[in-house]
Amino acid sequence: MTALTNKHILLGVTGGIAAYKSAVLARRLMDEGAAVQVIMTPGAQAFVQPLTFQALTGNPVRLDLLDPAAEAAMGHIELARWADAILIAPASANTLARLAHGMASDLLSTVCLATEAPIHVAPAMNRLMWQNTATIANCQTLASRGVLFFGPAEGAQACGETGAGRMLEPEEIRDALLTCLHPDARSSEVGSTTPADRYSHTGRTASRSTAGRLSGKRILITAGPTRESIDPVRYISNHSSGKMGFALAEEALKAGAQVTLIAGPVSLQSAPGIRRIDVISADDMLRAVLAQAGSADVFISVAAVSDYRLEQVMDQKIKKNNDHMALSLVRNPDILKSVASLTERPFCVGFAAETEQLEAHARAKMQSKRLDMIAANHVGQPANPVFGTDTNSLEVYWPGKHGHAHIPAASKHEVAASLLSIIAERLKARESHDDKCPPGVQR
Ligand code: PMT
Repeated sequence: MTALTNKHILLGVTGGIAAYKSAVLARRLMDEGAAVQVIMTPGAQAFVQPLTFQALTGNPVRLDLLDPAAEAAMGHIELARWADAILIAPASANTLARLAHGMASDLLSTVCLATEAPIHVAPAMNRLMWQNTATIANCQTLASRGVLFFGPAEGAQACGETGAGRMLEPEEIRDALLTCLHPDARSSEVGSTTPADRYSHTGRTASRSTAGRLSGKRILITAGPTRESIDPVRYISNHSSGKMGFALAEEALKAGAQVTLIAGPVSLQSAPGIRRIDVISADDMLRAVLAQAGSADVFISVAAVSDYRLEQVMDQKIKKNNDHMALSLVRNPDILKSVASLTERPFCVGFAAETEQLEAHARAKMQSKRLDMIAANHVGQPANPVFGTDTNSLEVYWPGKHGHAHIPAASKHEVAASLLSIIAERLKARESHDDKCPPGVQR
């Protein structure tokens, strides 16, 4: 028995060269014991014959919304009710746009509107179409409604270009769906390295609790370490993996926010719909953050920014001629403090990585950087060093004697969802206070 045994999977196939792989995908789902029915869009039929899917699944392939013969048997509403899960692979840019806009212009989009089943999409398109802001906005809308994304992968594309936009392999999509439909899908996230964990907006529980709470808010997040060059082959950095910041970015997206993620050098893939800017050094990060901060409602500074950099980066590799060596370092700019000092500033949330006296150190940082909130985590403990792990717990502080909340140990995604709920509440409280204060009155 697997999570797909006896499950009714409605496979939507849309127009793209990857449609030929969907025949293998149908087979792989059936191998797991799933019953598969296929809907093909007109675009899909230009690439693959419906007969292929009919022969593989043993079911007639559904092609038209207004098909009297098909409606007399299992109409589109019955099809929508029949499905335990809908999987659209490949999902073209056109289909994503129609789903995001709630269109009911063909059988597939109509069934998606009429179903209560979870919808999963495996996008496939040219890399520039995938990066287009219209596609990003559509993915963001879909993700905020709970649609789960599998991929796309990066690599050589049928159009001759190279980049993100390739559909995942059928086996990867099957594994991702297995993970999502597993009854313990939420707990299996922790430490999981399955394709679903790498590619999907994981978990529905958090998305329900935060859904829409940050709707329309523009959230800027930094994540990961920064890297400060010593010479062409060496650098100073730290152990941040970016997991905490990436989890916040995904959960903020699910909560309806427009998310910009400024990431230091990490090996994580960000969810579709997140606008990501990659940087290396603290200076790069400062420039990228200041370029975005003016249009952000909230800034969450999760990055472990190197506090120092080399006074002078060497042009050539340093030779190991001496037993001792001293490097001369200078302070890096404080990115968070720079944003919090702007006249038109977003709601500023800092992170504090502490090994002792959590509250005292965190509150001191909040005060010296003039923050609206700070989330302190206890780092460096053998049981959970936080850096690089999949779990965390936080003590959250904001100005005022009673400004404190505890977020118990959980996956970084769950912790992120809880922190975003607190931020949404504080933001709301501040906005309603602002409404009541006449201009010029200090809060
Ligand atoms: O990435 P992970 O492996 O998931 O690990 C997560 C984490 C431990 C990195 C994260 O939870 C965390 O604690 N991030 C902040 C780490 C840190 O740099 O703390 P700090 O106490 O040194 O800095 C305080 C705040 O100032 C932070 O918000 C930091 O982003 C910011 N800062 C610090 C220095 C600097 N030059 N510029 C900054 O903006």
